[in-house]
Formats: sequence, C-alpha cells, structure tokens
Amino acid sequence: MKLFVDTGQVEEVRQAAEWGIIDGVTTNPSLIAKAGRGFKETVLAMCEILPHGSISAEVVGTTVPDILKEAREIASWAPNIVVKVPMTPAGIQATRQLRQEGIRVNMTLVFSPAQALLAAKAGATYISVFVGRVDDIASEGMRTIEEVVQMVDAYGFESEVLVASIRHPMHVVEAMRMGAHIATMPFKVLEQLFHHPLTDIGLQRFLEDWNKAGLRIFDNPA
Ligand code: G3P
Repeated sequence: MKLFVDTGQVEEVRQAAEWGIIDGVTTNPSLIAKAGRGFKETVLAMCEILPHGSISAEVVGTTVPDILKEAREIASWAPNIVVKVPMTPAGIQATRQLRQEGIRVNMTLVFSPAQALLAAKAGATYISVFVGRVDDIASEGMRTIEEVVQMVDAYGFESEVLVASIRHPMHVVEAMRMGAHIATMPFKVLEQLFHHPLTDIGLQRFLEDWNKAGLRIFDNPA
C-alpha cells in the first residue's frame, strides 16, 4: 500500500521523506491556505523533496473550461504532479479530456460508490474516497472503501483507490485490510503509526540487559 502525507506544510513533507516510507503528498485548497505560503512555491518545494513521489495539487475552477485551464497550468509545473479535480459533472467531463492529454487526475471529494464508479469510468488516476468526514457524521466511511476496492477489482479499472480524510491509525490499518491502494493521512497520524508501548518497553529492557552485562560491539570503542 502506498502511504501519502496529507498536508500543506513543506517541513512535514521533508521530515516524512527523511523516514523513507512515503510515496507522495496530497494537498487541498484548505491545507494550502492554512500553510500560509504561495500555492505554486509550496507544491514545487514538495516536488523537489519527493522527485519520485506523487504530489497532488487541486484546481479551484468549477466549470469545464476553468478546470481544464487550471489543470494544464498546474500539471506543467512538474512531472510528478497529479491534478486534483472535484467529483462534479464538470470535474468528470474535464477529467476525460485531461486523461486524453496525458494529465493524471486525482478525483477528490468522493463519498459514495456511485461517485467512485463515475470517477473510474472517467479515467481518474486516483479516486480519493473521504472516510473521516463520513465518520464525523456518525456513519461508516470505511464501508465505502470496501465497496470501491471491490468495484475497481471486479471491473479491472486502472484507477487506484486513495483513502482520504483519515483521522487515526485504525483508518490506515482498515484501509490496508481492505486492499486499498493508497492511504493519505495527516502528519500526526503518520507519526502515530510508528509507536507501540511494548516496543518502547522491549527496547529499554534490551539496552538495560546489554549494559548490565558490560557487553560491547566494537573492540576499540571510539
Ligand atoms: O486532502 C483530502 C482529504 O484527506 C482531507 O480530508 O477531512 O482531513 O479535511 P479532511
């Protein structure tokens, strides 16, 4: 499963990239606005940190002509940019055209299997199915992931299911269990994936026992 970090903060991408376990970044207009830097400079900084990763950057146009114009501009900034387009009739129509031009699309704000079907048929590279915002209104966001993964597999669509709007590590684990292709998560959730109290306890015991025995690795410690 690919792991993406969902952020507008360049420094979070830099730290995550140093760990060597992330495959890309997703941004959105709210995350970019919160970061407080320019859109293009933020996206290009992320592309530079992860030249072999996938960097998703979103249009704000809502009509077909505006989506096409903005998507072509954003895609021209760097080869590893995937353009985010909202799940609307205009977004679907624009996605068909963009795919014919070789521009990769991350169809975002997808909440239902029906929307995911349309996104797959439009040729979306990624289908961003939001789970946390569904959980936030007391429904089960992960159920949609299960159905969309089954649909993509059953019909052999090339689209990858991207689990978005993740709130905690169990969303990542459930996404993995369901065979989702990608999970994008806030930096805080990515950090949480590392930790287990028994790891901390076990490591401390190893070091205590080693030091108590007066053992060493190097013959001539520096
Ligand atoms: O960036 C797309 C998605 O992951 C954002 O979800 O609910 O955290 O705003 P949310």
